[in-house]
Amino acid sequence: LDNTLNIGLLASGSGSNVEAILQSIKDKRLDANPCFVLSNNSAAPVKERAFKYAVPFYHISGRTHPEEDGVAFAIIDLIEKYQIDVLVLAGYMKMLPGEVIKHLGGKITNIHPSLLPKFGGAGMYGMRVHRAVIEAGETESGATVHAVTEEYDKGKILGRCRVDVDEDETEETLARKVLACEHKIYSIVLQKIASGEISW
Ligand code: GRF
Repeated sequence: LDNTLNIGLLASGSGSNVEAILQSIKDKRLDANPCFVLSNNSAAPVKERAFKYAVPFYHISGRTHPEEDGVAFAIIDLIEKYQIDVLVLAGYMKMLPGEVIKHLGGKITNIHPSLLPKFGGAGMYGMRVHRAVIEAGETESGATVHAVTEEYDKGKILGRCRVDVDEDETEETLARKVLACEHKIYSIVLQKIASGEISW
């Protein structure tokens, strides 16, 4: 019996989280089958990372699929083609169409660079998050893996990883620390989903 999780990875930019997950799979720390990497950006560096691990790369966006619901149907086609169990969002900067979320019964994960529910929601991404954390005088921050719903950063929290915010912390140093934390926690949470330890 094959319990290996079929996953599809979605990213818009660098894709360092995608690479960390692909490396975990290669190292057998994560029992998953990486079926594809999808980006809304044809020039995203994540494309090179997909090639490096020999994972099929797809570019799907409003530009490739301008017709109404075109993006949603194209993503659903990929989910069907590869029999995807879980969609893994890692720096995917687009709202996933509601049809896709429904199609997978909500089996979609995302990672956010703060300790949700703090510092989440619309407009809270990238350096803005770390700036807000420092301005609020927080003494800790971190990363959160959560289930995706139709509202930003509101789904069930599946795992978190903490870092200290030091006295002399800057947005840049905090961003680096949190990203390193993301690279660890995402594979750990996905492995717990694969093993059935985490339920949705
Ligand atoms: C990460 O900080 C993630 O939390 C956020 O976007 C960033 C993606 O980084 N949603 P990368 O593309 O994985 O390097």
